[in-house]
Amino acid sequence: MHIGVIGAGQLGATLAEWCAESGHDVAVTSRHPERLGNLVDRLGDHVTAMPVAETAAYADAVLFAPSWSSARQAIDLTAGALDGKVVIDATNPTEATPDGRSGLETLMGWAPEAHWVKAFNTLPASVLSRRRGHDPLLAEFVCTDLVDARLTASKLIRDLGFAPIFTGRADTAYLTETGGPLQMTEVSIQDATDVLANVLGDYV
Ligand SMILES: NC(=O)c1ccc[n+]([C@@H]2O[C@H](COP(=O)([O-])OP(=O)(O)OC[C@H]3O[C@@H](n4cnc5c(N)ncnc54)[C@H](OP(=O)(O)O)[C@@H]3O)[C@@H](O)[C@H]2O)c1
Repeated sequence: MHIGVIGAGQLGATLAEWCAESGHDVAVTSRHPERLGNLVDRLGDHVTAMPVAETAAYADAVLFAPSWSSARQAIDLTAGALDGKVVIDATNPTEATPDGRSGLETLMGWAPEAHWVKAFNTLPASVLSRRRGHDPLLAEFVCTDLVDARLTASKLIRDLGFAPIFTGRADTAYLTETGGPLQMTEVSIQDATDVLANVLGDYV
């Protein structure tokens, strides 16, 4: 696949590296793509840096990992190029969202034609690095309303060495985000169903 990484910072650059290692072609971006030369040099031939709109247009699927405070700006910079694309939202809101919805639902409101799915947001890149590809595989929580987004995110999660577990529709994303019970919760796949059942029982 062509993967676009919007926000090639601590998390985004790590995921970009693993996507390239997994055989995907990757475009990385930020507000300053000209500063991503070192990252591109380090990650090799399958990774290029592009402006935000070009990255979104290039991608079959987008990993969305800017800081929360500039997520709206990042969407605006795509100039509509997210429409129809699977966009994997790895952000965590750091401030209250308008009307108290989850971060994922807020992004869905800002770019309603994108096929949004929540994943890769619950754990630090350091934990992902430690657990990646090791048995028992680390569960990666997936929330979305859309089947194509769920399938694409699940494939990418597997490609990168983790185990997808479907958590629920977009309105369950708050469970995984800042302050939610699945945030900073390191769960192996064989335990994930029980953990999820407990969380859904307590919160939904
Ligand atoms: N770090 C982790 O381990 C981790 C784990 C799980 C989830 N997350 C979530 O992932 C998101 C990013 O975290 P991070 O720690 O990776 O942050 P970070 O290191 O600060 O990286 C953010 C990246 O986004 C870029 N960016 C900022 N505004 C942008 C915009 N408007 N358009 C395009 N790119 C933009 C920044 O580059 P420029 O400033 O050059 O634009 C930078 O490359 C946060 O929401 C965080 O909660 C992080």
